[in-house]
Amino acid sequence: MTEATEAQRPMTRVPPHELPAALRDAGLSNWIREPLDDALDGRRRIIMPPAAAVMGTPASASQGALLDEARHPDTVFMMGDNPALPKMPKRPALKDFFLLRFSPIARTHLLQSARVARLNGLGEKVIMACLVHDIAIAGLLSANHGYWGAQLVAPYVDEEVAWAIEKHEALRYFADESVGYTYPHAYIDYFGPDYRPPDYIRREHEAARQHRWYMTSRLVTVNDIYSFDPDVTVEFDEFADVVGRNFRQPAEGLGFDGSPVAHMWRTMIWPNNFL
Ligand SMILES: [Fe+2]
Ligand SMILES: [Fe+2]
Repeated sequence: MTEATEAQRPMTRVPPHELPAALRDAGLSNWIREPLDDALDGRRRIIMPPAAAVMGTPASASQGALLDEARHPDTVFMMGDNPALPKMPKRPALKDFFLLRFSPIARTHLLQSARVARLNGLGEKVIMACLVHDIAIAGLLSANHGYWGAQLVAPYVDEEVAWAIEKHEALRYFADESVGYTYPHAYIDYFGPDYRPPDYIRREHEAARQHRWYMTSRLVTVNDIYSFDPDVTVEFDEFADVVGRNFRQPAEGLGFDGSPVAHMWRTMIWPNNFL
């Protein structure tokens, strides 16, 4: 780079000010975009951790200190595109969330589950449900993920697909020998061998067993695999045909179609917005 080019480069570095010890000690420096070349308008931006993410942890005590930071003239809260995330297209489709937002582990899990369902010769409703059954874990919230995930897709898929996604959360805890489904080994690692699902999950399981769509949801759990083959890469486009026939992509883009769940997709587009 020549000196002349260097001189023309826009100056975007934010002059640093010392972060208070309360934030440094709580390890919250990472929530604040420190002076960076990509700082907007020469201002640093703060990400306020969502309450659901920090409740019950020491980080929840630092909300006041983060609010104080915003009083500095060179500091604002994060709103809009976070430069640390890939920019989403104006009218995002399901594929964009897979490629630009979902965590790599969850993305692989979803794609491999859908692939196994297809190899097992299952119908498109089951394959579609497998493809998106954990999207809440992938991009939104893990607790109650079956319910969040079902709501996310409900306006765009067959009612049976959304139902199967919702109920897979409860069915995962209970064996069904008729299809060779046993309690997941992974859950013994995750929750300990003595874990007992709460009553509401037990009731959900009992009710789902009586439902006419029970087997659709059960087949989601059967193909809900945790053992990944590291040599197999599954591309989203392998399911472009299934998605095209089973997911009604809104023309305005997910997040902007005015549906009752549009805000949930927008939360994944701009997950760090203060409000
Ligand atoms: Fe799940
Ligand atoms: Fe899963």
